[in-house]
Amino acid sequence: MDRQDHDAYDDPEAPFIPTLATKPRPTKGIKFSPKTICAALAAISLLGIGFLLLHQPSSYIETQNPPSYFAAFNSQSYLQGPPTQRFRDNLRNDTKYITSWTSAGWTNDVMTYGNLIYLALITERIPIIAKFLSSHIDPSEPPFPFGEVFDVPRLSQAIGTPLLEWQEVKDSESQVLDDIGCWSVWESVERYKEDPRPLINYLNTDISWTRTPDWVKLTPPDEIDDHASFWSLATLGFPKARSDNLGLPNRPSPQHHVSLPPDDHLLCFDLLYFIGAQRPWEWESDYSPAWRFVGQHMRWNASIERLADTHARRAMNVPVGEPTPPYISVHIRHGDFRDQCHGLALDQCFASLPIIARRVSEVQEELRTQKGIEVTHVIMTSDELDPEWWSEVRALGWTWVDYVKERTEEIYGKWYPVFLDAIIQSNGAGFVGTRGSTMSNLALRRVQTWHDGPTRIVQWGWPGADNH
Ligand SMILES: *[C@@H]1O[C@H](CO)[C@@H](O)[C@H](O)[C@H]1NC(C)=O
Ligand SMILES: *[C@@H]1O[C@H](CO)[C@@H](O)[C@H](O)[C@H]1NC(C)=O
Repeated sequence: MDRQDHDAYDDPEAPFIPTLATKPRPTKGIKFSPKTICAALAAISLLGIGFLLLHQPSSYIETQNPPSYFAAFNSQSYLQGPPTQRFRDNLRNDTKYITSWTSAGWTNDVMTYGNLIYLALITERIPIIAKFLSSHIDPSEPPFPFGEVFDVPRLSQAIGTPLLEWQEVKDSESQVLDDIGCWSVWESVERYKEDPRPLINYLNTDISWTRTPDWVKLTPPDEIDDHASFWSLATLGFPKARSDNLGLPNRPSPQHHVSLPPDDHLLCFDLLYFIGAQRPWEWESDYSPAWRFVGQHMRWNASIERLADTHARRAMNVPVGEPTPPYISVHIRHGDFRDQCHGLALDQCFASLPIIARRVSEVQEELRTQKGIEVTHVIMTSDELDPEWWSEVRALGWTWVDYVKERTEEIYGKWYPVFLDAIIQSNGAGFVGTRGSTMSNLALRRVQTWHDGPTRIVQWGWPGADNH
């Protein structure tokens, strides 16, 4: 695999926060306490509901009023009861579980959880999902619960298995450091044979790592690649492969210094980002099992999706009471991608806006001829900071969400611009993205699968890469 693919990993994908171009209004004296924010959010969501009931502005895609999914599985019946001080006290003795950690930026962590849940399906275990870590956004921002971005009951129903969140299992406030043995995939597939993938271990677990066998590697031993294979990892969730491999190198836990074999009740792996069934970087492939069996069913939590819709409507100046019009979403990642330009001038390396506009016209044309819809609205999402570039975007007649003007971070927190960008991208009638960006790839798959929308990926990296 080429470097570019590998560098797409650790992908912060920070949306445009134009601190250079516009100074945010001073907020001196206004300090929201968590209580005020909760009250404000409650008020907003009540208003939102009232608004929907009164006006019912139907969108061309049915995202505003998704059907309600009543918990097909009551997560409580897969645990002993409410969250406990030690996670183990809450596990049922007739149920097997699986978990893993994340640390790679939000989009990649979403893919990691997709992989974890797919591995749960093929091992017939119940996945326990931890909150998203804010390491790439702002480490001071608290972790964000999976179920507040994704619709867990709907996912659970679609995939036919219960799904637990860590905070349902172990009390988030618990001070107990739990001992556990886990498998380290990273140590056996990572090309430089480093330590287990360093984890930000806020779950209060003290982990003793056992190396996975070398045969978990997806590609031939002499090929430089970090991927492990789904089914080889799955075998470790069954008695034979597990017992055959207990003798592999083990590291005692860093705090209690205990050596533990990999847990079988709660099967755990250090990092499940680099996993494939047949080849590396599979989330980009049409057959990707993690996408087909899990990822496509990870629909948005309705509250946050409504908030994204509100933002998109304001960006497009949609009058109150009118339905949200179809739009084409665009994601252009620049930021750290410039490191891959290898000294080439950026205007030679990145696709220019006129080139991107060509791809947008193709998507418009396809929407017109194949679906009979005329889509004039274009919403840009990008981490580009240059105000001139944004004025060119404006000159094309396109728009974007101004998170500073919306005061999104102040009101909702630093996670939200990232979430809202992803949701807005995913609800485009068509989509244009950037090659090598996992955020673009996920948006592309969502638009294709959820809305049957046309998509394009813009090439870049050398002069004229996408001129066609
Ligand atoms: C499993 O748990 C149930 C209830 O918590 C208990 O009654 C039973 O004895 C346990 N079984 C085993 C094999 O430990
Ligand atoms: C969506 O998130 C909200 C919190 O923002 C939460 O109260 C609600 O239960 C979530 N919805 C579902 C279906 O899980």
